Amino acid sequence: MSDQRAIALVTALSGARKAFSLYPPQHPEHRGALEALLGAVLEATAEGPFALNLHLGRLYQESRVLPADSPGLKSTARSLEGHRIESLTFHPSFTESDAIVLLEVLARRPSPDLDAAALLEERGVVGVVARRLEEGAAEEMAEREERRARDRALHRRLAGALRQVTSQVGPSGSPDMGEATIVVEDILNRLMEDNAAVLGLATLHDDGESDLFHAISTMIYALTIGLGLGIPPEGLTSLGLSALLHDIGKMAFDRSDPAERERARALHPRIGAEILARIPNVDQAAMLVAHEHHMRPGGGGWPEAEPDYVAHPYSRMVAIADRYDRLITDGPNGFGLTPDRAIVQLLRETNDALDRTFTRVFVREMGAFPVGCLVRLSDLSVGVVSAPGEDPLQPHVRLVYGADGLTLEEHRDTDLAGSDLSIMEVVQPADLAERVSDHL
Ligand SMILES: [Fe+2]
Ligand SMILES: [Fe+2]
Repeated sequence: MSDQRAIALVTALSGARKAFSLYPPQHPEHRGALEALLGAVLEATAEGPFALNLHLGRLYQESRVLPADSPGLKSTARSLEGHRIESLTFHPSFTESDAIVLLEVLARRPSPDLDAAALLEERGVVGVVARRLEEGAAEEMAEREERRARDRALHRRLAGALRQVTSQVGPSGSPDMGEATIVVEDILNRLMEDNAAVLGLATLHDDGESDLFHAISTMIYALTIGLGLGIPPEGLTSLGLSALLHDIGKMAFDRSDPAERERARALHPRIGAEILARIPNVDQAAMLVAHEHHMRPGGGGWPEAEPDYVAHPYSRMVAIADRYDRLITDGPNGFGLTPDRAIVQLLRETNDALDRTFTRVFVREMGAFPVGCLVRLSDLSVGVVSAPGEDPLQPHVRLVYGADGLTLEEHRDTDLAGSDLSIMEVVQPADLAERVSDHL
């Protein structure tokens, strides 16, 4: 197993570093440690170059994390980190003199002026190549965190705008759409810039305000269809706003009462359209979407449509987005399906309930394993799909648990397209007591 070879190599490297600092060159311990290192490198490189990678204080062989309790692992990781080495690639041509130079370089006290990777090269070492730890990596992570915080703030702003709109919905009230329109446009711009980040926002749920979160997620999914179809920007804003307000009719009911809840279900399309009709200069599409989003192309939805009635395209898109969010939502308001199953279910429902063409566009944009899918990979590590890939079966995955089953302290992103890992199964977040939105 390559894991074993990696562990043996790390043990030998750490032993040799210790021997070099404790004993003079003629001492038998010195010689023995050097030979052990040469032997371990020979084993490890039997099938070609062998890379040890350092990432956030942990050592990896390719993308597999080495068990933290392996002998010498911590000190080796610390030493590489101190010398700002991100990876060491050993080649079959590794010689004794390469080993000696490597150990001498690692024995030097790390300092900002010491570039260990360059020093190895200068001293003619070719059997092992060090790659410098780019300072950019840490900055990149800080940037990602900052973007995430900004995206969450955008979500909160949209929630605030929607709360305000719904609070203005009274028997005669006429909500002000100004702020909501602005935030919808901001989200739309962000979706065009980084669709994965916005799809991550759609995984946010809150039991206390499930309607609000449902409206926002539905909007994000509807816009995903609109963007996939190439709808122009004005149309997308109208689609987004319509999706955001699709269930606004429910606000007119006190749904703590079961009978009222049933009435809300049946009547919210009509009431929603009436509420929106009261707004001066309201977008006609929003009224239609509120009215039509539970109609079905094959009949049987509500309100019941005439047999050859064709709903507005935005209504048919929102119906798909609304359904998908319901399918993946846990608890009394949803079906708790994993995202991959929800995708299959949507395809099934294209027979009579959902628009076939728009559903296919949605499925194409989401991939077979949509953002938010918790997946177990072929090396038994577990992660959350963080972005769709070119190949629908090979998305980007943010690892949460290493192959050893232990939680990773820092998120590690893997593009399955460029790795030998594949998705083995989809896991129910509840089975691992995980909330996927914590990792997106
Ligand atoms: Fe609805
Ligand atoms: Fe809905």
